[in-house]
Amino acid sequence: MKVAVLGAAGGIGQALSLLLKTQLPAGTELSLFDIAPVTPGVAVDLSHIPTAVDVKGYGQDDLDVALKGADIVLIPAGVPRKPGMDRSDLFNMNAGIIKNLVEAVADNCPKACVGIITNPVNTTVAIAAEVLKQKGVYDKNKLFGVTTLDVIRAETFVAELKGLNPENVHVPVIGGHSGTTILPLLSQVPGIQFSDDEIKQLTHRIQNAGTEVVEAKAGGGSATLSMGQAAARFCLSLAKAKQGEEVTEYAYVEGDGSDAQFFAQAVRLGTDGILEILPYGELSDFETKAKADMLDGLKGDIQTGIEFANK
Ligand code: 2OP
Repeated sequence: MKVAVLGAAGGIGQALSLLLKTQLPAGTELSLFDIAPVTPGVAVDLSHIPTAVDVKGYGQDDLDVALKGADIVLIPAGVPRKPGMDRSDLFNMNAGIIKNLVEAVADNCPKACVGIITNPVNTTVAIAAEVLKQKGVYDKNKLFGVTTLDVIRAETFVAELKGLNPENVHVPVIGGHSGTTILPLLSQVPGIQFSDDEIKQLTHRIQNAGTEVVEAKAGGGSATLSMGQAAARFCLSLAKAKQGEEVTEYAYVEGDGSDAQFFAQAVRLGTDGILEILPYGELSDFETKAKADMLDGLKGDIQTGIEFANK
């Protein structure tokens, strides 16, 4: 199996690459691409860790070889937020980056499962889908916006509030990956009840958790380590599924369009990407309203991506 990380020398990319070097199955090739000159050095650095994952680093002229034959591609490339910015403020910088990288994916590994981390995810996934369509290789079962960070944050915050071990807490998170489009389904957390106040506060904290990190880093960027962990978990699930194990993860994917063309929900993964998108079940009144209130915004984010890719 070959896994490629595009933007591997950045904050998310390095954390993610480290986790993948130590956790991918033996025999995997880990291909690191970044335009930053340090990239070959990051690969050499990681290559000294004694695991049977073979790391190679590629600089700006070697995107094609970095991607050739990849089974899984993760894309954290792009610029992060600064305080006061919304994820959509990154559109002007990151839309073009995603377009170029996904064109190279289409040319070199058209059958790969692709996980997009670059913000604004609500929009960049739509750009990626359009680019893959233009190249004639789009498979909606193989394109994912990585929203695992919303799930792990929700689990952490619920565990903190209720004094539980986060490993035993499971919180479905649906919608998108920005502000109010992030919708944790607290009514569906097994074994845990919340007061109305707790629901309001937790939902708000989960929706603004990225901003919590951006503000705490005070101009130094956005979440890198927790995002690295989240993206590694998602990639390891894709890798397990490729090897025949069935795994379920939440991700922002193209489904039946009943909410929006792209919508985060639970997906059952198999050897060829999504086997099935699982229904999210019955929502509470609070969640029903929150979903209704955010859908126009999410659809607008998606439309922005489609227009960008087709202009
Ligand atoms: C976050 O949620 C970086 O979008 C990422 O923190």
